[in-house]
Amino acid sequence: MAIERKNQAPERTISPFPIQDDRRDESSVRPTRFAEYIGQQNVRERVEVCVRAALMRDEPLDHVLLSGPPGLGKTTLARIIAHEMGVNIFTTSGPALDRKGDLAGILTSLEPRDILFIDEIHRLNPAVEENLYPAMEEFTFDIIVGTGPGANTIRLPLNPFTLIGATTRTGLLTSPLRSRFGIVERLDLYNVPELVQIVMRSAEILHFELTEEGGTELGRRSRGTPRIVNRLLRRVSDYALVNDTPIIDLEVARHALEQLEIDEYGFDSTDRLLLSTLVNTFEGGPVGLDTLAAATGESSDAIEDVYEPYFIQLGFIQRTPRGRVATGRAFEYFGKSRPQGSGQGTIPLE
Ligand code: ADE
Repeated sequence: MAIERKNQAPERTISPFPIQDDRRDESSVRPTRFAEYIGQQNVRERVEVCVRAALMRDEPLDHVLLSGPPGLGKTTLARIIAHEMGVNIFTTSGPALDRKGDLAGILTSLEPRDILFIDEIHRLNPAVEENLYPAMEEFTFDIIVGTGPGANTIRLPLNPFTLIGATTRTGLLTSPLRSRFGIVERLDLYNVPELVQIVMRSAEILHFELTEEGGTELGRRSRGTPRIVNRLLRRVSDYALVNDTPIIDLEVARHALEQLEIDEYGFDSTDRLLLSTLVNTFEGGPVGLDTLAAATGESSDAIEDVYEPYFIQLGFIQRTPRGRVATGRAFEYFGKSRPQGSGQGTIPLE
């Protein structure tokens, strides 16, 4: 029997294990339809085709794996998919789902075609992950009743659902889990015009008066990341309010960003520490990721997932088989030129 739920906005988003971080603020400016989603054009188009085909076939969408640095809109895209499919979305995260019973509880409460969104899916407990396999493949969940020789396995049928997993790197997923996703997409850092479009849209929704020049300044300094451009917009609007300057123009944006110690490139103090360690302490490298982490007190994962993608996008560092190497641009940032021979003999990995 056909399920009459198409294109209905979900009544509510149920979050058994809410994600506790600064993402709450984003909800008011989050796009809810593909048509409102800016950037990631190829990904958006491909996912939209899959959603439309699933609706035409009257089937649940295939399981989706979204990867990419934090703040690029993996959660936003998952919510758009749910909205466009006209289904509910349950949101949780790998570390929060630490018991098999938690997973059983969520899966058995899903209605046909509902979406289960698991953020940081690479951090799932292995015992929980194993139970996801039959759920994803056959829509069943095995429960063991009793102990010892008298133990019995009961196979619970589940409603067909879609799992959307998000991860900062697909390489962190086990291959049995990765291979069970039919749609695998990677989000990349946004370019400046896209970030400007995003921040102008957010300003309009939030009733902030932001000039095109002010928006461009915010876009340029947001490390390719919508979450950052939206966060900067709020901080700059605080500055504008307190300084009694209702319009956020180039000058106001610059002053506010200066006060926030966010430089021309959007670097904050951690970015500068990482770059300075690579350029000044290690003379441009090559330096291994773990050495860089130990020297700066940052975790290797944070360097690889959060900081490095933007340095690479700007052409400030290269990844090589022998470690990270600073480019001439990174040396120029510190008013230096790259020493002759530094980083030579290294072949970029990408
Ligand atoms: N807000 C955050 N990400 C967005 C995007 N990709 N498009 C529009 N608004 C956004």
